[in-house]
Amino acid sequence: MQTVFDLTTKTGDIVTRLPETSTILKQYKIDFCCGGNRPIGEVIVEKNLNGADVLDQLNNALLKSLEKPIITLEEMTNGELIDHIISTHHDYLNELLPELSRFTTKVLRVHGSHSPELAKIHKLFHTLKTELEQHTIDEEMNVFPLIKAYDENPTSELMNKLSVKIEELESEHEGAGDLLRQLREVTSDYKAPEWACMTYQLTFQKLEGLESDLFEHIHLENNILFPRVIKQLKEAN
Ligand SMILES: [Fe+2]
Ligand SMILES: [Fe+2]
Repeated sequence: MQTVFDLTTKTGDIVTRLPETSTILKQYKIDFCCGGNRPIGEVIVEKNLNGADVLDQLNNALLKSLEKPIITLEEMTNGELIDHIISTHHDYLNELLPELSRFTTKVLRVHGSHSPELAKIHKLFHTLKTELEQHTIDEEMNVFPLIKAYDENPTSELMNKLSVKIEELESEHEGAGDLLRQLREVTSDYKAPEWACMTYQLTFQKLEGLESDLFEHIHLENNILFPRVIKQLKEAN
C-alpha cells in the first residue's frame, strides 16, 4: 500500500488510496476522474502550480490517515462498493437534482432578462439532470445487478452483457464531464454576480456541490469498480 505520493503518482490513484484527498485536488482544479490516468507532476506543470505545496498537503493527509485504521474503498467487495455508491452518490442525486431544477428555473424566471447566462445554465443543467437520471437508473436496474450476478455465477453470457454495458456507462460519464465543464465555464467558475440574491447564490453553490460529488462518484466507478470488473472478465476469458 502506497505510503507517500510523488510527482509520478496518478491523480486517480491518489483519490483511490485516500478519498479525502479529492478536496485538495478540487481546490487546485486537478482532474482525478476522467483524467485520472495522468501523473500528478504532469498536471502540476501544466497548471503552473507549486508542486511541493500540493504534494505536502496530499502527503500530510495521507500521514494523518495512517494513524487511524480505515477500510479503504479498494478493500470493499464489488457488492459493498455498489451499495456505497448508491447510498452515498445516487441518493444524493435523487435529492439534489429536483431541488436544483426548481432553483435554476426560479432564478431564470426572476433574473433571466438581465443575466442571459441563466438560460444557458437552465438548459445545461436540465440536460445533465435527464442524462444522470437515466444513467443512474440503468446502473441500479441493470448494470449493478449484473455485476452482483456475475460475482455469484460467472457465465459467459453475463460477461458479454457486462462488457458492453460498462463501455456504454463510461462514455456517458464522459458526456456528464463535458456538461460539467460547460456549466463551470458559463457560471465563471460558479461565481455569482455581486448583486445576486440568496437563491441565485445558493443555486451556484449547489451546482458546484453537484460537480464535486459527481467527480467522486464517477471516480469510484471509472477508476475502481469498472476496472476491477473488467479485470475479472479478462481473467475468466
Ligand atoms: Fe453511479
Ligand atoms: Fe455512473
